[in-house]
Amino acid sequence: MEVKTSLLDNMIGVGDMVLLEPLTADSFLENLRNRFDHNEIYTYIGSVVISLNPYRSLPIYTPDKVEEYRNRNFYELSPHIYALADEAYRSLRDQDKDQCILITGESGAGKTEASKLVMSYVAAVCGKGQEVNKVKEQLLQSNPVLEAFGNAKTVRNDNSSRFGKYMDIEFDFKGDPLGGVISNYLLEKSRVVKQPRGERNFHIFYQLLSGASDETLKKLKLERDFSKYNYLSLDSAAVNGLDDAANFRTVRNAMQIVGFMEDELHSVLELVAAVLKLGNIEFKHESRCNGIDESRIKDKNDLKEMCELLGIEQSVLERAFSYRTVEAKLEKMSTTLNVAQAYCARDALAKNLYSRLFSWLVTRINESIKAQTKARHKVMGVLDIYGFEIFEDNSFEQFVINYCNEKLQQIFIELTLREEQEEYVREGIEWTNIEYFNNAIICDLIENNQNGILAMLDEECLRPGTVTDETFLDKLNTICGEHQHFESRLSKNSKFLTDHSLPHNCFRIQHYAGKVLYRVEGFVDKNNDLLYRDLSQAMFKANHNLMKQLFPEGNPAKVNLKRPPTAGFQFKASVGTLMKNLQTKNPNYIRCIKPNDKKTPHIFTDSLVRHQVSYLGLMENVRVRRAGYAFRQPYEPCLERYKMLCRRTWPHWRGPAREGVEVLMGDLQVPHEEFSYGRSKIFIRNPRTLFFLEERRRQCLRDLATLIQKIYRGWKCCSRFLLLKKSQVVVAAWYRRYAQQKKYQQIKSATTVVQSYTRGWQARKLLRELKYQKKCEKAATTIAAYWHGTQVRREYRKFFRANAGKKIYNFAIQRIAQKYFLGLKSSLPSMSPIDKSWPVRPYVFLDGVHSELRRIFHLWRCKKYRSEFTSEKKAVFEEKLEASELFKDKKTLYPSSVNQPFKGDYLEISKNPKYQKLSSTVDEKVLLADVVNKINRANGKGTARIFLLTKKNFILADQKTGQVKASVPLPDVTSVSVSTQSDGFFALKLREGSASAVKGDFLLSSEHLIELITKLHHVGVTAADQEQLNVDISDEFLVQFKQDKVCVKFIQTPPKNGNGASCKRRNNRLLEVSVPLTV
Ligand SMILES: Nc1ncnc2c1ncn2[C@@H]1O[C@H](COP(=O)(O)OP(=O)(O)OP(=O)(O)O)[C@@H](O)[C@H]1O
Ligand SMILES: [Mg+2]
Repeated sequence: MEVKTSLLDNMIGVGDMVLLEPLTADSFLENLRNRFDHNEIYTYIGSVVISLNPYRSLPIYTPDKVEEYRNRNFYELSPHIYALADEAYRSLRDQDKDQCILITGESGAGKTEASKLVMSYVAAVCGKGQEVNKVKEQLLQSNPVLEAFGNAKTVRNDNSSRFGKYMDIEFDFKGDPLGGVISNYLLEKSRVVKQPRGERNFHIFYQLLSGASDETLKKLKLERDFSKYNYLSLDSAAVNGLDDAANFRTVRNAMQIVGFMEDELHSVLELVAAVLKLGNIEFKHESRCNGIDESRIKDKNDLKEMCELLGIEQSVLERAFSYRTVEAKLEKMSTTLNVAQAYCARDALAKNLYSRLFSWLVTRINESIKAQTKARHKVMGVLDIYGFEIFEDNSFEQFVINYCNEKLQQIFIELTLREEQEEYVREGIEWTNIEYFNNAIICDLIENNQNGILAMLDEECLRPGTVTDETFLDKLNTICGEHQHFESRLSKNSKFLTDHSLPHNCFRIQHYAGKVLYRVEGFVDKNNDLLYRDLSQAMFKANHNLMKQLFPEGNPAKVNLKRPPTAGFQFKASVGTLMKNLQTKNPNYIRCIKPNDKKTPHIFTDSLVRHQVSYLGLMENVRVRRAGYAFRQPYEPCLERYKMLCRRTWPHWRGPAREGVEVLMGDLQVPHEEFSYGRSKIFIRNPRTLFFLEERRRQCLRDLATLIQKIYRGWKCCSRFLLLKKSQVVVAAWYRRYAQQKKYQQIKSATTVVQSYTRGWQARKLLRELKYQKKCEKAATTIAAYWHGTQVRREYRKFFRANAGKKIYNFAIQRIAQKYFLGLKSSLPSMSPIDKSWPVRPYVFLDGVHSELRRIFHLWRCKKYRSEFTSEKKAVFEEKLEASELFKDKKTLYPSSVNQPFKGDYLEISKNPKYQKLSSTVDEKVLLADVVNKINRANGKGTARIFLLTKKNFILADQKTGQVKASVPLPDVTSVSVSTQSDGFFALKLREGSASAVKGDFLLSSEHLIELITKLHHVGVTAADQEQLNVDISDEFLVQFKQDKVCVKFIQTPPKNGNGASCKRRNNRLLEVSVPLTV
């Protein structure tokens, strides 16, 4: 919860003097002292902030503090300058009201510090961003620059502003800073050439000599030693707590941030150096023969260096210090200057040079910080002008400074009162005028155009004839002598005739802040502010840009014979403009008070503060504020704060706030004369009433706290109880639910079982019925379908193409068969019986047909082939076939005989004359004639014999002679034996007991064994009367040689030379035939 403090809560003393009770000068002072002792340096008088200079840094300007005061109501927190700055900034940003912050107080009271605090606060709370930050930085950094050139140590303040400053900070509609404009007022330039005891020249001189590098000093032709320069007072050159060297670096840095170029910076330092040099130029008397005193420069070294620094011709400047040219219309006169005049001219030049440099700096800074946009902007002005000054020796400067302060006091009185009065009128409150001291009369004494002091001074300055400060005083005595605030020894008012505190060459003014004695000496000159034209022309001739700019009147092409306006006139005009400017803005006041004269913390000098309180009119300020009503507050916050004091407004008031406040006040029985109802605010006359309300509120808050505690505790217990109750209900509910669920599930499962049985029984019954029904239906449907089918077919038969499907099928089959056959015809293989190719089967269902056709085709092809044979060829093939039947796979020799044609007659026996005799003996047709080897039965050796075969017998004849050796009728041959091997041996076995068998069986060998045996077998088969000839194929068989049975055994031998078989008689029982192995 946000803890709100208020001006009225836990305050040390009274935060707002308006609430001070009783209100006396003592109580006022006591309150200030009390707060000051507790480090509360700020106190309010309504919306005016009184600030006491603490002379030490307090931890109340931290970023946390900025945050604390940001966007808070003015009276919400304890008094602070931040509260005022925040209020001003917010009403500028949110209500579009231009603001000005008027900071007043005497020298050393803390105005400049206050102005910096306001600026830094505004910079901290306004918008952020690269561009905005740059603007802020430039605005803030303009302060150190102006302070270095415009501030000096005085007896009252170590950092006293010797010029007036008014700065307008410009903001856009969002409240972001856009830029600013600085106006400066009357720099105390006399300080450049002379400083009162215990004071210093402007800071920059000391900073330059202490902080610049040796190299820079050399360039500027300066030495570090202050004592080398006449314009620098020595008695207080070093100031406690002021680090000139460090400050010089800060100033340089600030100038860079503000936007000064390096060469500009250097030019500025050159002019500062020039002023120092100028102070060192000294003059001496020189009497001329005509008796006129002239001045001459003593030591020209400084002059020379200065001229070198600024690029001025030395002789020109030298002459300007010795002569003065007076131009009047057509005439031009030159007069010599005496030493005093020369010193005056020198000092006037130094003062002018410095003050113009200062004005140029302000212009240059303004150039940098000016707003870049022309868009409409809101303005917050901060006025930090020199404070009211009363010195021992007061001159023209103090006079104008104090005049300015009079004007500010005037505006303060006017605006405060007016504002106050306007508020009463605005709020419809009855108002009676309050008496207060109005310093308008003093302002009038000074500024009145006819008989004001400034007007008199101007008149004197412009008057022809001898004009001195004394003539000016005389004039004042005559014109202002009777004014109640003017005092002079020689005035018409005789009461001052004997006043020894009032010297003859002085006049005294009763300012609002006290009486000030002014010495008239120098008034005329300072007002004239004359600089001899010779000097300004010499300066213009300088080969130095900045110098030229500062002395434009020295330009010979623009000679202006008109007198420039006097200093007093200029100041009055600029103060007038400032006042007008301030009146257009919403004022916010900071009244600075100096607690002691020693610039020391913790000291509160009663008399000093009392005096300031009195002349600042602070008591009157409080009285004016209280004369009407001490306290006012809008209805809403008032009701919010006190509504707990009445039952009807607590805790909520539904109606308008004003009515609520009325009810509240009525209920509290506050006397009617103690308050008034304005349009938007309630006005409380006496602080006591407010304290009464506050006291009641405090009590009520205690009660409320107890009530809140009570309710809270009750609520806490109640909510705990409710929670427990709720939990119990939840637990019970869950348990019941669980129990019921279980019971339910048991019943449910039992029910389900019973149900399932019943349903099962019912379902089965139903199923049976349904099945039966379905069967009946199906039967009926089938019968109906058949019956309908019959009916329909009967009825529609005539419309249907019966057997169409079959026909289509047959047709398709035929077409396929036709296509198949035709295709087969065109792709038949060749007629060669050995050709194994056959077209691929097109359809699976034709598989059987296809292979059958292949077989038939092959048979037909073979038949065709055979039908082309002649009877001879046929016989040959029959023989071949027979040979195959006899020997295939039985005798190794057979395969080699297959491709040998069976010639039969190898010897061409009928044609060959050699066998003519033999052929004549054979009357049958010779079926085979060949040479064979007859194996000798005794030794197994072979003898060549001609073998002839006829249909009836076979004949063996001598090969040479053709003589028949044996002729055996075929019926005598019972069998033929051959081996299984590749040899040509064969044995012809003869029937036992036949005539031919006398000598025994024949063992022969023939090269055409297969043909010979085949033919022999054939003859045996064809002769129907003969028994079939047996052919034995075996590697061992018996032959009958005469009486002996000899075994002929065939053995295989490895091949030797020649591959003929050889026969050997091993013994009388065995004849061994060796057959070489065929590979
Ligand atoms: N709020 C503050 N906190 C701490 N020190 C302060 C404060 N205000 C002022 N001072 C001290 O007082 C000195 C004088 O203050 P400042 O220069 O603001 O006076 P001034 O009113 O501007 O005087 P002048 O009229 O001579 O310029 C400062 O240098 C500083 O040391
Ligand atoms: Mg100041």
